[in-house]
Amino acid sequence: MTDAGETTQIKAYPMPRPQPMHPPREYAELRQQCPVARHLLPSGRPVWLVTSHEGVRTVLADPRISSDRTHPGFPLPYEVADPEVLKKLFRFSQSLIGLDPPDHTARRRLLISEFTARRMQALRPRIEEIVHGRIDEMLAKGSGADLVQELALPVPSLALSELLGVPYQDREFFESRTKIQINHNSGLDERARANGELMSYLDGLVAAKEQEPGDDLVSRLIEKNREQGQLEHGELVALVALLLIAGYETTANMIGLGTIGLLDNPGQLAVLMADPGTAPQVVDELLRYFSISDTAGSRVALTDVEICGTRVPAGEGVLALGLAGNWDPAVFAEPERIDVRRDARRHLAFGHGPHQCIGQNMAKMELEVTFTTLFRRVPSLRLAVPSAQLRYKDDANTYGVYELPVEW
Ligand code: HEM
Repeated sequence: MTDAGETTQIKAYPMPRPQPMHPPREYAELRQQCPVARHLLPSGRPVWLVTSHEGVRTVLADPRISSDRTHPGFPLPYEVADPEVLKKLFRFSQSLIGLDPPDHTARRRLLISEFTARRMQALRPRIEEIVHGRIDEMLAKGSGADLVQELALPVPSLALSELLGVPYQDREFFESRTKIQINHNSGLDERARANGELMSYLDGLVAAKEQEPGDDLVSRLIEKNREQGQLEHGELVALVALLLIAGYETTANMIGLGTIGLLDNPGQLAVLMADPGTAPQVVDELLRYFSISDTAGSRVALTDVEICGTRVPAGEGVLALGLAGNWDPAVFAEPERIDVRRDARRHLAFGHGPHQCIGQNMAKMELEVTFTTLFRRVPSLRLAVPSAQLRYKDDANTYGVYELPVEW
């Protein structure tokens, strides 16, 4: 067993990308030298970066490694001194994604039946309508649009409204508030205010459905909770908020990046166009290639643990880097190539272990419908500026583009 942190000089994390579509160079270097290496976050907290596919899976499945955001050793990128502010910030995550078993297991059980393949099949025709509707509107405006505004943001927002039973007319409110809440560039006060507004809206929504249930996730969640008496009203509201936050910007960013990936690789797009039945495979490869939630595997070691031969002391942060794992050439040959014919199903873009993305069936379905419909209906679609000149979200939790100017 090695002690990589003690023998090497501590370097800073995050590192810049050499080009927008590629991970930082250090990921590959670290993977070769030692896939588990101690770094320092801007907050000054230490974090152990894990860069191999095997290492990422090991960390995410280890019950001695916690997801609890409120643990003093959790690898927060920024320092928050006020415990009250911290509590508010993590209200949503501590409703599920920041819990450890057994609390996490019971909470997840309440939701899991809402995201089965069968439920998603039932939702699919509605998602198809949503995508067609947005493309109709985009085309009606003439050639030239920002695909982020016209398609990538509205599709998951409307899909979530549909799933949860959020009225259509409230979607703008959702978009704006969730945007602020997830944006690490927003000030802490601004984010706290957005949290508050979102919570009070959802409070009202949950209360309305308690009185008058509909055929939607929130109503069924209320019913299940009545039977089991697990959650207080506020916790139920926070759980619904988490679904919105977790399912919104992630899917939007994948729509934007996936479109760029296909337009920049016409040979790969041709495979999808020749046979729309390849869509699930295409989507898996795009999810692997972009791995937009690179830092979702943030954890803290509860005891001393050994990861791939390196000792990580109790109380220190661990970052199981999804992008590094998904570009591990031991698992995906020539990872820097988008190859929609490869079997990418072992990718870690949705995480691994107990917290593996609960909404993955929904996300995949939205992406499949969006890409097949978009390229079928707008076969002349092209980028209005080269992809290297776009503004990428280097500063955000989830990677993506801020704008995507297209023409047809
Ligand atoms: C968890 C990625 C879409 C809801 C996760 C995790 C990842 C992820 C990496 C694991 C986090 C961890 O290990 O701590 C993505 C990506 C998406 C996407 C890349 C889109 C392309 C969605 C959607 C929903 C959703 C559409 C719901 C509508 C959740 C929830 C969790 C989660 C609730 C926490 C699960 C738990 O803690 O048990 N997601 N996600 N996600 N995701 Fe997603």
